[in-house]
Amino acid sequence: MRVIVKNDPVEISHEAAEMIVNQINKNHGSVIGFATGASPVETYKRIIEKYQKGEVSLKHITTFNLDEYVGLSRDNVNSYFYFMKENLFGKTDVDFDRVNFLSGEASDLEAECERYYNRIKECGGIDIQLLGIGTNGHIGFNEPGEKFMDRPFSVKLTQSTIDSNRKYFEAVGDKMPEYALTMGIGDIMRSKKIILIATGESKAKAVKQLVEGEVSPSCPATILKIHSDVTVFLDPAAASLLGDKK
Ligand code: F6R
Repeated sequence: MRVIVKNDPVEISHEAAEMIVNQINKNHGSVIGFATGASPVETYKRIIEKYQKGEVSLKHITTFNLDEYVGLSRDNVNSYFYFMKENLFGKTDVDFDRVNFLSGEASDLEAECERYYNRIKECGGIDIQLLGIGTNGHIGFNEPGEKFMDRPFSVKLTQSTIDSNRKYFEAVGDKMPEYALTMGIGDIMRSKKIILIATGESKAKAVKQLVEGEVSPSCPATILKIHSDVTVFLDPAAASLLGDKK
């Protein structure tokens, strides 16, 4: 795991965007795994800028997002599909026919998870997966627990995740869903390359666990230690609790 500390989220975004754009320019049909939330937003801005300057086209990529809330339609402003449309896809030439999402509206959630697993496989796996990290160490919505999940599954969100995200729902007078569909740890670990971005003091504890702790499902992100190609980008606040590995 390479741990890189940059001065701020903008500096991080230049490097993370460069890695993703290089992958796409190396193979226009790359399969890219995207994340939502605050952490990747600057990186998406940099990718959009590169698209606008003609430095990259997203037309032939296939995309998979990590997760989606159960019960939200794609046009709900708090759905992760909506987030990706607003923050990246709708501002580039992404082909929406190659945008893959877990559907939080599926009537059979188990079948939906199976479909997503098979779809990732059919597409040859994910070339680069972008990740954030929860304050409790979650990646995707793999919450702290007793075991690592291999394939996509339906998860009851922890109170910590609800507390971190409820502001987005309260802003539009909605209640935050308690369940989500997420890629499993296995799906994430099968990605060829992984980039994780963590900024701000609220992530410092989880980052310390990730970098210095033992691999354990009680902090799901720690599994990334045994992946062969992970780059972790931190700002000084997120890195503030690290010892000599800072
Ligand atoms: C989002 C996701 C989550 C977030 C994490 C950090 O698709 O899977 O694991 O990456 O909750 O969220 P932010 O970036 O908002 O702090």
